[in-house]
This record gives sequence, structure tokens and C-alpha cells, in this order.
Amino acid sequence: MRTGQHDPFPFRYIDPRMKSESEVIVRPARHVRGGVSLPGDKSISHRYAMLAALADGPSRLENYSTGADCASTLGCLRSLGVKWERRDGSDNVIEVQGTGLSLTAPSKRLDCGNSGSTIRMLTGIVAAQKFASEMAGDESLSRRPMERVITPLTAMGAQITSQNSRPPLRITGAELRSIDYKMPVASAQVKTCLLFAGLLADGETRIQEPLRTRDHGEVALRAFGAHLERKGNEVRIRGGQRLRGIDVRVPGDLSSAAFFLCAAALFPGSQLTITSLLMNPTRARLLDILMQIGLRISVTQLEEIHGELVGTLQVAGGKLKGATIAGADTAALIDEIPVLAAIAPYMEQGIEVRDAKELRVKESDRIASIATNLRALGAKVEEREDGLKIPGGQSLRGAELESFDDHRIAMAFSIAALRAHGETLIRGSECAAISYPAFFSTLEGLIER
Ligand code: S3P
Repeated sequence: MRTGQHDPFPFRYIDPRMKSESEVIVRPARHVRGGVSLPGDKSISHRYAMLAALADGPSRLENYSTGADCASTLGCLRSLGVKWERRDGSDNVIEVQGTGLSLTAPSKRLDCGNSGSTIRMLTGIVAAQKFASEMAGDESLSRRPMERVITPLTAMGAQITSQNSRPPLRITGAELRSIDYKMPVASAQVKTCLLFAGLLADGETRIQEPLRTRDHGEVALRAFGAHLERKGNEVRIRGGQRLRGIDVRVPGDLSSAAFFLCAAALFPGSQLTITSLLMNPTRARLLDILMQIGLRISVTQLEEIHGELVGTLQVAGGKLKGATIAGADTAALIDEIPVLAAIAPYMEQGIEVRDAKELRVKESDRIASIATNLRALGAKVEEREDGLKIPGGQSLRGAELESFDDHRIAMAFSIAALRAHGETLIRGSECAAISYPAFFSTLEGLIER
């Protein structure tokens, strides 16, 4: 299914609806040039949809994520009796009618698809309802660890059964008690799950995270009118607070931007502008690392929208040095490590990733997926239990790669392929639609050959 050398279309998206049968061909590029504005941030879209469902009155969410994951959240909410509609003839303007903290019993299993955020965060809400529900997802989601939400929610009074701590989850809701909980794993999904449960519980819930993770849950709760307190790594929420609906535009997804930023980083002549992009400091470590690696970045038109920082980013390619990503940086860059690792061989010193065991329990075992694809491209890579060491100064040759049904792996390796010799085929590339359905066409529009 490879396109010939003279094919004018370097990306061939055979059929995005045919799971595991679509493949994309990527040919080398010379530059990245142009401007783009991205679909709404996935993390924020999930949280806004869930809080809008619980609020008093309607909410209007513009630039809602176009990814299948955020559609899974909307689908589950509909099954829980929440009325929402797409507005303005667009797939990314959503109007949600708030239910005022209460949902209705679902008549069928809640289908979370591929979305860890949907199942983990929504569990915090359904655990506090007066009914039982069952949440399940696809094969990849069915392998992902859930004890991180089961343990604290059980301590709050919910009854949850699982398959060896994996989905499907059967949740019997209860009147939840507040909890004082020290999270063993740094996870913003878990923190948000417990903040949502805490909002619906009796008394004050206190959550301590081992290190500071993305704070979109806190920011979104405040935007919907809740009061929270933060002291260092602890956040507190009092139960029983009412939420009010909001009208808001979701900032562009910074983790999706990472692919274009890394593409720009590959070519010294690149010039790229990204408007209305999320700049939340708990997510923006990516920008520091890219600058450290050699990308020139400037930020203009900074503004705050309902507590989230948004700005315009201008970037120019430079000489790529290298980086070590470890400790708190690993948690802060968890979704961007695949693409940083995929371009590491082109850097002078490469990249070393440490403390990244969590990457093994994402949509795929991302440490293994990255190592397998880099090797297929001819790179040397050292795979470790909790990370990777990828030497710099390597040149890659086009190859046939797998997406491992993992959206970030499919997108990351289409970027690495832009500087490889020869063309690269990525199987199962349709999974990019989990977070970014228009990814390949947008990338194509930014590339010069
Ligand atoms: C997310 C948190 C991260 C991230 C995921 C989205 C969120 O997961 O990998 O893509 O929106 O809170 P963990 O909380 O499991 O680290």
C-alpha cells in the first residue's frame, strides 16, 4: 500500500474509520512554515464537560476537543441523563444543560472507549450518585490500572468491583464521606477524580500529591464557581458547593502542539505560529525543554480565560542539543515524551528519560513502543524499566512502523519520519483521531519539501 516516489501527497490516510487498517505514508520534509490554531485541549475539555453536566444552568463550550476521547465523555454523560447538543453547525461548540449535581441511572454500560481520563474522572462523579453503573472501554483501556481510583473512592464509601483492578468497573454509588488522602502515584486524573468526589461528599476532602501535576481540575472547578484551597502539594475542597454554568472557549491543546513544535525543531529554517494555545504553567514545561534543546520560542498576546493562561507562540528552528528528563519533569511532560524521544536521535546529545514507569501503563506501553519504532528506523536506543536513553547524532532511514493503537505514538513517529531518509509507513495511524482527527492534514499544510 505504499505510494510511489512521485506521489504528490506524502500523507495517505486510507480510511480513518477502518480500525487497524489505515496507514499513513510520510516522506521527508525541508521545513515547517505557517500558522495554525489547534482544537481545544483534551484535558480541559473532559473537565469542562463533566462540570457543565453537574452545574446549575447551561454552559457553552467553544473549541471543545474534536478527539474521540472527549466524545466518549460526552457519550457517557448522555447515558447519565445529561442533555447536550452540538451548536452553530460545528462539531466543536457544545451546549450542555446542567443537571444541578445529580445525574440519572444509565440504562446501559458507560462506554469510555480508549479514554483513561473519562473512566478515571467520571468514576469520582458516579461514585456519589444514588445508583449503580458500569464503566468499560476498549482493549487498551481494559488493561489500564484503576486501583488508583478504586482505593480512595472505596475509602470514601463507594463500592467498586473490577477485573483485577482493571475495567470494567461496577460502581455502586453512595453518600460519600470526605477523605484525607495522600496519593501514591502522581496523576492529575486521580486528583481530579477525587476533587469531583470531594465536591459531592460530606465535609472537607484533602488530597496530597507526591508532586505537582496539571491543575486543570482545580482551575475548572473554580471557573464553575467552586472554592478550593491549595497549600503546597495539598488541595482541599468542601463538599456540597453548587456550580454555575459558564460560557468558555477551550484553549488550543498544548500536547497536540508538541508534535508541530517538534517538527519545527527538526529544521533550522522552520517558522511556526500557533495562536490561542494553552500556556498553563503546569503544562508548559514542554516549552522550557524545547528552548533548552534549541528551539527559539516567543510568546505574545497572553491572556487568562477562566483561570487558564492562553497565548500565541512563535517558534523558529535552531540547532538541537539534547536533554535529560527526570523526576518532576517526567510527570510534567508525560504526554510529550513520545515525540521528544522520537526526534532525540537527531539531537546532538540525544535524550535520556528517567522515572517514567507510568509510560508503561498509558494507551500502549510507551517505553516499548518508542524503542521498537526507533529501532525499526535504524536508531540505537537503550530501553530501561523506567525510561530510555537515546543517543544523539544518529540518522534514521524510513521504515514500516506500528502505531500500537496509541494516538501519541502514531503522531510522534510521523514527526520523526520527516527527517528520515526515504519514506515511512505507519500502520494503524487512524488512532490519531483519539486526540486529534485532523492531525495529518494539518501537518501536511505546515510542511514544505
Ligand atoms: C491527564 C493526565 C495524565 C495524562 C493524560 C491526561 C489529565 O494522565 O497522561 O493524557 O487530563 O489529567 P495521569 O493522570 O494518569 O498521569
